Amino acid sequence: MNRADAFALLCEYTQSDSLRKHGLAVEAAMSGYARRFGEDEEKWGIAGLLHDFDYERWPAPADHPRRGSEILAEKGYPEDVRTAILGHADHSGVPRTTRMDHALFAVDELSGFVTAVTLVRPSKSLADVTVSSVRKKLKDRAFARNVSRDDITRGAAELGLELDAHIANVIAALQGAAKELGLDGSLAAGTGAGPGGGAPGAGGGAGDGAG
Ligand SMILES: [Fe+2]
Repeated sequence: MNRADAFALLCEYTQSDSLRKHGLAVEAAMSGYARRFGEDEEKWGIAGLLHDFDYERWPAPADHPRRGSEILAEKGYPEDVRTAILGHADHSGVPRTTRMDHALFAVDELSGFVTAVTLVRPSKSLADVTVSSVRKKLKDRAFARNVSRDDITRGAAELGLELDAHIANVIAALQGAAKELGLDGSLAAGTGAGPGGGAPGAGGGAGDGAG
């Protein structure tokens, strides 16, 4: 098991750019927590990178993430990585017992949510995302309503962290991967066909102050 093979596997099974980016975001958040907890950064990162790699092909709860886990077993991925991947989906019935299991569950929905918050900022830059801006959007039930607020709250609790601290950790980890995630402001800088056109100076905004 190594990072290059894991990324190749993700790309083999997942064509959607946003789903690949989701894997990369969860990888960054997992590596961040591994670093924080003194754990194996590559292993935790790979669990994040691959947690949804089978989803595009087998989205039904009866298949995902079980199918993916079977493929990982055939390829010799370690048991603890597969258990964390199975456990991130409550419907798998596989309990979360290790810190890696809890971390994967805790960062999955929140990474997606922070990405969604970033994409509605004029700058489309993670540099402008704060804990308070994420908190505000969490309260807005209409925003990214497919993201389970309950999972985010439970995830922080499983990690033994205050929600604000957990949000701050995930923002910081994703900021470290902003370029790979396409959330470094380049989307608003006019390199692509940005909808509505980027506001001048959007990249330099300090954002709203964190609470
Ligand atoms: Fe996910």
